[in-house]
Amino acid sequence: MCGIVGYVGEKQAAPILLDGLSKLEYRGYDSAGIAVFDGEKINMTKAKGRLKVLEEITHGGSTMPGVLGVGHTRWATHGEPSDVNAHPHLNRDGSIAVVHNGIIENYLKLKKKLVKKGYEFVSDTDTEVIAHLLDYYYDGNPLRAITKVMHRMEGSYALGIIFKDFPDELYAVRKDSPLIVGHTETGSIIASDVPAVLKYTRDVYFIENEEIVRMEKDSMEFFNVDEEQIEKEPVHIEWDVDAAEKGGYEHFMLKEMYEQPKAITDTFSPRIRGNEIVIEELNMSDEDIRAVKKLMIVACGSAYHAGVTGKYVFEGMARIPVEVDLASEFRYRDPILEEGTLVIVISQSGETADSLAALRESRERGAKVLGIVNVVGSSIAREADNVMYTWAGPEIAVATTKAYSCQLIALYLLAVKFAKVRGQISDAQVKEYIEDLKRLPDQVELLLNNKNKIQKFANRYLAAKDVFFIGRGIDYAISLEGSLKLKEISYIHSEAYAAGELKHGTISLIEEGTLVTAVLTQEDLFKKMISNIVEVRTRGAFVLAVTTEGNDEVKKAADYVIYIPRTNRFFTNSLAIIPLQLFGYYISVGRGCDVDKPRNLAKSVTVE
Ligand code: AGP
Repeated sequence: MCGIVGYVGEKQAAPILLDGLSKLEYRGYDSAGIAVFDGEKINMTKAKGRLKVLEEITHGGSTMPGVLGVGHTRWATHGEPSDVNAHPHLNRDGSIAVVHNGIIENYLKLKKKLVKKGYEFVSDTDTEVIAHLLDYYYDGNPLRAITKVMHRMEGSYALGIIFKDFPDELYAVRKDSPLIVGHTETGSIIASDVPAVLKYTRDVYFIENEEIVRMEKDSMEFFNVDEEQIEKEPVHIEWDVDAAEKGGYEHFMLKEMYEQPKAITDTFSPRIRGNEIVIEELNMSDEDIRAVKKLMIVACGSAYHAGVTGKYVFEGMARIPVEVDLASEFRYRDPILEEGTLVIVISQSGETADSLAALRESRERGAKVLGIVNVVGSSIAREADNVMYTWAGPEIAVATTKAYSCQLIALYLLAVKFAKVRGQISDAQVKEYIEDLKRLPDQVELLLNNKNKIQKFANRYLAAKDVFFIGRGIDYAISLEGSLKLKEISYIHSEAYAAGELKHGTISLIEEGTLVTAVLTQEDLFKKMISNIVEVRTRGAFVLAVTTEGNDEVKKAADYVIYIPRTNRFFTNSLAIIPLQLFGYYISVGRGCDVDKPRNLAKSVTVE
């Protein structure tokens, strides 16, 4: 989720751009840059690292005169963090500059076509394709060039664009990535998020999909993709800066929960081509995939819980033996990695010390390592043999939600790919799984919008001392993550148990009123789970059940039931985890805990 700022007016643009970008720093980024038209040419400065580096290089912007410019803070998705991959990107003669937030899913196909037409690329980004496409279509009419490019691009984008030939005009266009524009006392401004403009104006226009804005110092015009002029009304922003940084949500964690539908879509969409799963970054031929004898999934915390889900999905769908281990255990147990073992290291940050050590241990033992990572260019991403990114965007809250959900998606995609190549599923089944994937974002959204019911229930358990989560199969993996979400942000003791394990000890802990959350999404295990619910209820437990729509029998057994929409048995974790995320969140809020920065925890555990 990059940060975008643009300005055209009577004041020097560079300081305004730098100031706007500084208000977007909270979103997380790895590099920054600005481009300003000085009356003759477009000058550009960009640098890897913090915005401070850019401010120092440009002396607060004073080395870049001009009243028209665009700026960017980059959260890398394609191309490692570097000066050359930072935005803005220019066309070949430097007469057009563009900044971009989003993912151009068909950028490789477009890049190949442009290279054939003689275009040379200097970066590994998808954004540079936009700069050259604009160049290709530009014939003196910026609006026409922009609409032609829009027809060619697939994916998400918020763009800020300047043309040397039009020194009084700033262009912006949006599809799926947020973009706002507004007037200031001295000119017009664009930004990817409200905090960047609050200093100048509280009256903004939210740009809708496939709308284009042409701005001058004192005017702005809105167009649709057919170049027809449209009318828009401004919105007055009441938020203070703190609320604005959270997009109006009370906490980053809630904001990131609500970003899950888009994050999930961003992660699977570029890897679905018609009725086929295509994971180019895997760099494994069908023969390589068929040669895999075993998967060894290694991670920490929630990433480990995603790995436990991965075990059930891979073994159930692709019939590949899977072992899952905590990285902190794996690295010291002199692991046995036989020939044909593919190690998968899952990590949001890509910097978790134990997971990185496990990766190095695996490679030293001759195993191939695939990373499933959210932060582009992080250590695990760089040191793995291949890396599959989860495009969740920057995750600020310590308790992971959207990154975890994207880790699940990455594992589903891999499992379907492996199962098909290894002849375990048919084309028709692949098609069904793809359809189920495409339904997940809306189903997640539906569950998120059910938050009031969860909040009400959570408020009854603010004083809880012990909470148990039980499940079987994939539902056990869901229980692990649901339990961690609760305890790490509410400080209430909680444990997840394989439901069949209760009678081997834990059930002695159940007292009158103990809350037990039972997860039942696996139809073949429903009956077993119902008996586990009866077992704990007869000992006084209050049972919250999370189950699939239509499973009305659970109502007779449990005290409180939350239903999730139907999906195939392998993908249920992506849905059942939503009410459990909300449950942990509302208990934490109700107990007055620091939801986004819980005590004793760090977002990335880079030490042992
Ligand atoms: C999960 O909410 C926690 N923040 C923690 O368990 C986290 O998943 C774990 O530290 C692994 O981090 P990573 O994904 O960045 O490697």
